[in-house]
Amino acid sequence: MQPIIKLHDGNLMPQLGLGVWQASIAEASHAVTKALEVGYRSIDTAAIYKNEEGVGHALQSSTIPRRELFITTKLWNDDQGNPQAALETSLEKLKLDYVDLYLIHWPKPTQDQYVEAWRGLIKLREQGLAKSIGVCNFHVPHLQRLLDETNTAPVINQIELHPMLQQRQLHAWNATHHIATESWSPLAQGGEGVFDQPIIKKLAEKYGKTPAQIVVRWHLDNGLVVIPKSITPARIRENFEVFDFKLDKDELSEIATLDIGNRLGPDPESM
Ligand SMILES: NC(=O)c1ccc[n+]([C@@H]2O[C@H](COP(=O)([O-])OP(=O)(O)OC[C@H]3O[C@@H](n4cnc5c(N)ncnc54)[C@H](OP(=O)(O)O)[C@@H]3O)[C@@H](O)[C@H]2O)c1
Repeated sequence: MQPIIKLHDGNLMPQLGLGVWQASIAEASHAVTKALEVGYRSIDTAAIYKNEEGVGHALQSSTIPRRELFITTKLWNDDQGNPQAALETSLEKLKLDYVDLYLIHWPKPTQDQYVEAWRGLIKLREQGLAKSIGVCNFHVPHLQRLLDETNTAPVINQIELHPMLQQRQLHAWNATHHIATESWSPLAQGGEGVFDQPIIKKLAEKYGKTPAQIVVRWHLDNGLVVIPKSITPARIRENFEVFDFKLDKDELSEIATLDIGNRLGPDPESM
């Protein structure tokens, strides 16, 4: 059984989903079709990925009822002044009436528009065009401003998070405020030596799993929402076959030692 988490607005979200960054329209369509077949119900895309049409095509071709799916897309930085138009464009490409989760993609503090954008997302939720609303890449001061100025907390903060960048302080702050933490680049983009770490290899051998499966399991066992990306059918399946084992406390502590603060993506302060 795949784990489901309850967001603070009461909506349910699968804890494991498929990411489609850097997939073309055709690749995203094939990957989503494969993922739905394997059992994924949550898909993470964004306007800036330029593949919402591919996701929409796969969703439309599927017989899975809409209510069983959880579709996330994101508001790009240049559109922070008009979230309504941006979401309507995304919905058209996705061929959907609503998304389950709409996220502000980056705070872009130099632009200083994210509080206004957040007010726009609150309206979109009221209109039913987004069932839940959240943010990506927000640091504590950005989140605090949303709370202070709108009195409305995001349900989720999607941030770069993997064994080499564990973001424990931000994860803890989110948790204190009932904001779920979602890991992007959860496999450290499939590289940066995560899969070669002796502790990851040792656990893979112990559980008869691949290093990628150990890393996905580590996210789940830390209470994180996780969206590994793959366009490779065998890997899409592999990343989902993680519900038949669990890491224990000592193993989680061992993986905790891999944190070297190694950011692969941009720093949200300067993005
Ligand atoms: N909010 C944001 O700012 C933000 C930023 C970045 C990403 N994201 C989201 O997070 C998702 C995941 O992050 P990501 O795409 O950066 O990186 P990732 O999921 O950490 O890694 C994806 C890479 O790992 C490879 N891979 C996948 N499964 C594997 C396996 N089992 N064994 C070996 N290699 C494997 C993939 O290759 P193949 O595809 O070739 O199989 C791809 O090259 C994105 O797709 C996107 O939805 C959000």
